[in-house]
Amino acid sequence: MIFVGELSELPPGESVRVQGEVAIAVFNADGELFAIDDTCTHQDASLSDGWLEDCAVECPLHAACFDLRTGRPSGPPAKEPVRTHQVVVQDGAIYVRESAPVGSAALGAEAAVGEAVR
Ligand code: FES
Repeated sequence: MIFVGELSELPPGESVRVQGEVAIAVFNADGELFAIDDTCTHQDASLSDGWLEDCAVECPLHAACFDLRTGRPSGPPAKEPVRTHQVVVQDGAIYVRESAPVGSAALGAEAAVGEAVR
């Protein structure tokens, strides 16, 4: 698992980028934690720099919105989903369990698991 940081360092409405096989963005959406690939599937923008609203993040470059639960974009210009990753909280620390790489058989079978921290 990838250590993200202390839960107290990621308040609601905030995000952080960590490095796994690729960069991963971790969000605290009103007390629920989500992790997705950080790079937008449209072009090279960092989704952790985007705008978080409810359970979606808006890409800072061309405003495609990605659902944090599924990784799917709500519409153009992004067409492909980002991967979602499992978030685990243990003893006040946040970890991410990275999903299988794109193209593996497991892709699509894994869903984001937001963990309530309230
Ligand atoms: S780079 Fe994200 S929508 Fe274009």
